[in-house]
Amino acid sequence: MPSEDSVERSARAAVGEAVDPPPSFVEQANVSDPGVYEAFAEDWPDCWDRAADLLSWTEPYDAVLGGAGPPFRWFDGGRLNASYNCLDRHVENGRKNQVALTWEGRLGESRTYSYLELYREVNEFAAALRDIGVEEDDVVTLYLPMIPELPVAMLACARIGAPHSVVFAGFSADALAERMDDADSAYLVTCDGYYRRGAPVHQKSKADNAAIGLDQDVTTVVVDRLGDGTPLAEGEHDYEQLVATHRGETVEPVARDATDQLFLIYTSGTTGEPTGVRHTTGGYLAHVAWTAHAVLDIKPEDTYWCSADIGWITGHSYTVYGPLALGTTTMLYEGTPDHPEKDRVWELIERNAVDVFYTAPTAIRAFMKWGEKHPDRHDLSSLRLLGTVGEPINPRAWNWYRDHIGNGECPVVDTWWQTETGGVMISTLPGVDRMKPGAAGRPLPGIGADVVDGEGEPVDPGESGYLVVTDPWPGMPLSMVHDEDWFAAREPTRPSLDDYDWAYFTEDGATVDEDGYVTLLGRVDDVLNVSGHRFATMEIESAVADVTGVAEAAVVAGPHELKGEAVYAYVSPAEGASEAALREQVHEAVESAISPIAVPDVVVFTPDLPKTRSGKVMRRLLESVAHDEDLGDTSALRNPEVVGELESALDDEE
Ligand code: WT7
Repeated sequence: MPSEDSVERSARAAVGEAVDPPPSFVEQANVSDPGVYEAFAEDWPDCWDRAADLLSWTEPYDAVLGGAGPPFRWFDGGRLNASYNCLDRHVENGRKNQVALTWEGRLGESRTYSYLELYREVNEFAAALRDIGVEEDDVVTLYLPMIPELPVAMLACARIGAPHSVVFAGFSADALAERMDDADSAYLVTCDGYYRRGAPVHQKSKADNAAIGLDQDVTTVVVDRLGDGTPLAEGEHDYEQLVATHRGETVEPVARDATDQLFLIYTSGTTGEPTGVRHTTGGYLAHVAWTAHAVLDIKPEDTYWCSADIGWITGHSYTVYGPLALGTTTMLYEGTPDHPEKDRVWELIERNAVDVFYTAPTAIRAFMKWGEKHPDRHDLSSLRLLGTVGEPINPRAWNWYRDHIGNGECPVVDTWWQTETGGVMISTLPGVDRMKPGAAGRPLPGIGADVVDGEGEPVDPGESGYLVVTDPWPGMPLSMVHDEDWFAAREPTRPSLDDYDWAYFTEDGATVDEDGYVTLLGRVDDVLNVSGHRFATMEIESAVADVTGVAEAAVVAGPHELKGEAVYAYVSPAEGASEAALREQVHEAVESAISPIAVPDVVVFTPDLPKTRSGKVMRRLLESVAHDEDLGDTSALRNPEVVGELESALDDEE
C-alpha cells in the first residue's frame, strides 16, 4: 500500500529544539492567555462565538452549531455579507483612508487602494456584474493573475451573493474548461494577458479555447492587463468600461445565510478529476477572521503579506478574506521572488514595512539556497511574525527563516490546514505556545484532531498514524456535509473511524509527541505536493498516457531539493516512438492538460512498467526507485527483470 510507505518514508522527520516566543511579542499579541485552550474546550461549540464576534451580522444567529450530526449548520439562522464585512464596516468606522490593498505589479508598477477606494470599485463592479446578468447563486469564474481586479471581482461577487470560482491563472485552457463545466458557470472574468518571467502569457486565448468546448454560452469580462487594448467579440465586455459605466453606483450587500455558499474552489483528490470544495459565508469567514487574528496576529494597523497566489485557498483565506475582514492592509505581489534580483522579497518587505509575512517552505528553501546575503542587504526590522504553510518544514529551514528573516526573534507559525478546512487547524498560537521547529503544533483551541492507527485508535507519542479531525469546525465546507460521495470516494485509504460520532480523515500522515504537538509526514493518498501545489498522480498520468506513442505510463512522487516533491513519469513507449520527441510531447501534454507546474521533472523511459501478477502497476516500487531506496521484496512482480533496467534508466536521467 503506497500510503503506509509514504508515512514510513517521511517518519525520519526530526523536530528541533523548542523555542519560546519573546516577551515583547507576547505582550502585544492578539491572543496571549494560556487559558484559551481550556476556555474553548469547556465551552464547545459556543466558544466559536469569539470568532463570530469578529464579524458584523445583519441577522444574529440562533445557534453557534445547528445539527447534532451532518449536515452541520454553523451560526445557524445568522445572516451576513462577506463584502460588507471586508469593506463597508471599515469605511463606516472611520477607517476609510486606511490602505486596504497595496499592489506590487510585475512591471514595477504599484497601486494602493484605501478602504473607501476598494469599496467604490467593488460596488461599481458589483453593479456591472448585475448589469451583464449575474444573479444570486450564479457561479462566476475568475481566471486572473495577481492583479487588484481579482480581489475586487471576488468581493463584488460576494456582495451580490454570486459564488466565485477562482481558477489559478497558470492553469491551462482544458483545466479551465473542466472547472467551468463542472460548476456550470456561464460568467468569466479574465484578462488579455500578463507577463511571466518576461514573456507574455496569452490568457484570453486560453479562455477562448476553454469556451469552445463548453455547452453553456459564456459572458466574458476582460481586464486589459497588457495595456494595448483588447479587441472584444460579441458578448464580451471590457472591465474598465464596465466599471466606468457604473461609476459612483452602490449596490446593497445581499444578506446571505451563514450556511450559504461564499465560493467554490477546485482541488486535486485521489481521482483524476479535480473536486469542487464549496465554502460557506458565515462559518468560513468567522474561521479565517479568527485564525488571522489569533494565529497570524494581524492588527488593523499592520501591513501584512501572504505570498500565495489567490488562485489557491491560501490566497482566498489569508490574502483576501481574513485580512480584509480584520481591516488590515493586505499586500498583493504579481511577480516572482527572483526578479529582477534574488532580493526582491526583502526589498518589498523593507519598502512596505511589512509586519507579518506568510509564505511556503518551498520558497524558504529557495531563499536559503540563494543565501543570506540577499536578506542581509535589507532592513527587515518591521517584521513581527513569520508564518509558513503548504508542506512540512524541516527544522533547518525553520531556523534559517527565523534567524535570517526574523532577526532571530520573530515567532514562526507552521500552520497546517487544507483547501477542505478553509482555514488553519493546527499551529502554535504565537502569543501563547512554545514552538518546536518541525512540528506544526497542537490543534487550535476549539479544533479536535487525533493521530490514529488503521483501527482508528489514537497512536502513542512518537508513533506514526493518520491525522483525523474529530469535531466539526466553522470553516468546514458545504461539500463535506452534503455530498455522500465525499466520503465514499475516500474509502480505500481511510482508517476506521467507527469509534467516532463524526470524523474527517485528512489524508495526511502524522506523529504526535507527549505535549500533543503534531508533526506532519505528508499525504498518504496519491496526491503530489509540488512547491505547495496539489495535483493527483492520476491527473498527470492520464495526460501522459494520452500522448500518441506512449504505450503505458505511471506517475509518482520523487524527491526534490526545493520543490518538496518532484513529478516522476515512467513511460513505456510504443514501438518505434522516438524518446526525445516523446519527452517533448509529454511535457506539452501535461502543460496543456493541467499547468506548467505539473510538468514532470523526470521522465524515465522503460520497456515495461513493473507489474504484479494480476497486472497492476506497482507504484510503491516506482516511488522507491525515485527515492533511491531499498526496493525490498520484488518477488511479487510478474516481470522482476524490469527493476534493474529502471534503476539504470533513472541514473542516466539524473
Ligand atoms: C495539504 C493541503 C493549506 C493551504 C495550502 C495547501 C499539506 C499544508 C502544511 C503544514 C505540513 C502541510 C498537507 C495537506 N500541508 N500545510 N504546515 N505542514 N503539510 O492546501 O492544496 O489543500 O493542500 O498540504 O499535506 O493535506 P492544499
